[in-house]
This record gives sequence, structure tokens and C-alpha cells, in this order.
Amino acid sequence: MVAILILAAGQGTRMVSDLPKILHPVGGKPMVHHVMDAALGMQTTDLSHKAVVVISPTLDVKAVQGGRAVSTAVQPKPLGTGDAVRIGLEALSEASQTVLILCGDTPLLESDFLSTVVAQHQQRPSPCITVVGMCPENAGHYGRIVADASGKIDRIVEHRDASDVERAIPLCNSGVIVADGALLARLVSRLTPNNEAGEYYLTDIVALAKKEGVNSWVVELPADLLQGINTRVDLAAAEGALQRRWRRRFMEQGVTLTDPASVFFCHDTRLGRDVTISPNVTFGEGVTIGDRVRILPGCHIEKSTLGHDVTVGPFAHLREGAILGDHVSIGNFVEIKSTTIGSKTKAKHLSYLGNATIGENVNIGAGTITCNHNGFIKSSTKIGDGAYIGSNSCLVAPVSIGAGAIVAAGSVVNSEVPENALAIARQPQQNKLTWATKFRARYK
Ligand code: UD1
Ligand code: CA
Repeated sequence: MVAILILAAGQGTRMVSDLPKILHPVGGKPMVHHVMDAALGMQTTDLSHKAVVVISPTLDVKAVQGGRAVSTAVQPKPLGTGDAVRIGLEALSEASQTVLILCGDTPLLESDFLSTVVAQHQQRPSPCITVVGMCPENAGHYGRIVADASGKIDRIVEHRDASDVERAIPLCNSGVIVADGALLARLVSRLTPNNEAGEYYLTDIVALAKKEGVNSWVVELPADLLQGINTRVDLAAAEGALQRRWRRRFMEQGVTLTDPASVFFCHDTRLGRDVTISPNVTFGEGVTIGDRVRILPGCHIEKSTLGHDVTVGPFAHLREGAILGDHVSIGNFVEIKSTTIGSKTKAKHLSYLGNATIGENVNIGAGTITCNHNGFIKSSTKIGDGAYIGSNSCLVAPVSIGAGAIVAAGSVVNSEVPENALAIARQPQQNKLTWATKFRARYK
């Protein structure tokens, strides 16, 4: 069995936040969930995973788990990563041959790389320790790995304890460490907090192992998979890295992004083939889009499902529960929420459509508003196939408009319109002849 320990009990003080660091979202989900999903998605030969997240006493267990199959162990005080691992190991009911340690603040990890690291570890003579190293452009405050040319590690020095010579080492500890379970348990029980921070450093297990004649090896991986988040500046950098990764993937899968840098995806965005996305488009959670859809500039889309050949925007807002059939066309300044729209229906200008079920081939005129809320409850609007809603109409819910019906422009509709009827719900027009001429003469 491979046991996974995710360390997430640190204070995260450098975030300057009331929200615990590991719950800060990146790419639309808490950073610790990225770590958990990368770990749980690993393919290894003897899997059976068991994952334990080490948390602080104040963290909400449900928020940390987010519905995932992980258990939690509480670290009463943040005495350091070594202390957190000791507590995590105690929570693993059975002894594990291989323990993979991850930090909850490294959301760019990916399953494939973790599987490879675990496999490499398991191929070495046991017991041993494998440390994933990286050479980031800016090594900053990462711990430095002191290793020989063969990759055998002498020790890991934390930045604050390092000499100038050690700080000049480009190879950094990513925080991903694999070790044999019994060895790890023995070593963490021997850690002492004799360092600048007064913490039990997990990284000291390397020097302790060496004293026992046990080897530690470094496996180097690209730094863009391993970035740790300690500050809001790191958070923004990780968001940028994730977005760049997703943009590249979507383009490889047949999506056109005219200005990739201005399009923001979410962890669960799903796009079909030959989708085209214009600049300045943001996707929130829960968006699924069919083939050949065009998203024009300036749209915000979340919790929505779009069929094939749909056009949205420019400047449209699709909110929770917008479900658009094939060939639907949504234009500028249209907001849609909790509304299902049948195929080939058009709402091209300046509308709010909420709590509505709209059929196929419907024309929603400019400025149509579904008045779905009376200040207390929401009510629904039904519009049948082929109906035509004239511009600037208010549809006061609950109301239904039959198939093929026409609503005259400027109407306030608050009762049922039968199929194929014309509804005119506005003041009849009066023309006062020569009135304007007399009016002007009076004021001249
Ligand atoms: C740690 C490593 C450093 C490495 C870096 C990679 C140690 C001593 N240092 O430093 O070598 O380069 O990660 O990102 O391991 N945590 C607990 N309990 C604690 C302290 C921390 O669970 O008592 C958790 C944190 O929530 C965090 C992770 O462990 O998810 C790492 O802790 P952090 O304080 O961020 O360590 P770094 O200073 O970044
Ligand atoms: Ca960190």
C-alpha cells in the first residue's frame, strides 16, 4: 500500500488572511484539493491508496475533505513539518511500505509525475528516502538540497539556517518526499527543534538517515509543477501557471483562443472541438460547452451547459443553471440564470432571463425581462416553441406564453398568452394632431 500524507496544518501567516492558506482557491478550487486530486489520481502498481491530511484544530474537516476519500489527523500545534508527519503516520492504521509526503500548499502537482516518483522510489534498494528537487528561476526561501553528482543527498538546509554558500545552491526541496514507512516513523521520532525556527523540520530526516547508513536520493522535476504558495504573490503566480497549462491543453485539444492570456478557465471547464474563445472571457465552476461554440469577447460563464454551434456574447453573463440547446444565439448584455433554452432560439440584446423554460425557435426581443422575483419568492416563466417576444417586454412570473404566440413590444404580460395569440399589454396610442406645433408656438 502507498500511504499519502498531505501536510496542511501550518498557520500560513504569510498570507495575511482570515481564510486558512490551504483553502485559498487556485483555478477555482482550494489549493489543498488540487494536491488531494493529484495524489488520489495516481496510478501505481500496488494501489490501494490511503490518504491522510494533517490539519490544524481550527480547520473545518468537511471543507478540507471537499467530499474526497481522505481522512484527517489533527496536529495540535504547528511545531513543524516533521511533527506533522509524525502525527500523520500515527493516523495511518496499518504500517505502510511506502509513504508519499506532500505539502498542502503546492497545487501545481500532477498525478503522472507523482506516480513516476513513487515508482522510482520503489525500484531503489530499501530502505531509502527520495526527495523531489527542483531548480526554480527564483529559489527564494526554499530549502536547499546538498547532494553529490550521483544524486545522493547529504542534507537539506532550510533557507533561514543556510550559509551564503548553501543559499547559492540552485537545487531546492519541493516538499515532495517518499520514504519507507518504518524508517520514516523512526526518523521523525528522533527529530529535534534545534534550528532558527525552533521547529521539527521534516527535512532533517535526510541527515539522520545518513547517520544510520541509509541513502537519500534526489529526483529532479520541472519547477512549474512544484511551486509552493506562501504569499499572495505566490498565489497569483500559481494561478498564472495553472491557467497557462490549461490554455495550452485546450489549444492542443482543438480550441481556438485568439488571446490566450486573457481567458481564464476553471478546474472543471469542459470544451468541445472547434470552440472559439475571444479575448476577456472568464469561466467559473461547472461549465460544459459543446462543439463549434463561439464565445465572443467579455463574457462571464459559470455553472452552465451549452450545446453545439451556440454563439454567446459579446458581453454576456451566463449564471447558475443556464442550459442552452444547439444553435442558440445569445447576444450582448444578456444575463441568463436557471433557464433552459431550446435549440435555435435567439436572445440577442439586453435581456434578463431567469427561472424560465424557453422552447425552440423563439425570438426574445431586445430588452425582454422575466420578472421572476417578487421580493420574497421566485416564480417561473414558460415560453412555447416559435413564440416571438417583442422588444422591451416584461414577463411577470408566474406566466406562460403559448407556442407561436406574439407579444407586442413594450408589453407587461402578467397572465397566460394562448398559443398563436397576439398579446398587447400596454396603453393604446393616441395621436393629438397639430399639438406639437401649438406647443412650440406658446413657448417661442
Ligand atoms: C517547506 C520545506 C522546504 C521546502 C518547501 C517547499 C520544511 C522544514 N521545509 O518549507 O524545505 O523547500 O516546504 O515548498 O519542511 N505544515 C504543517 N504543520 C506544521 C508546519 C507546516 O502541517 O507545523 C504544513 C503547511 O500547512 C504546509 C506544509 O506543511 O502545507 C509546508 O509548510 P511551510 O511552512 O509552508 O514550509 P516552507 O517554509 O514552505
Ligand atoms: Ca510552503
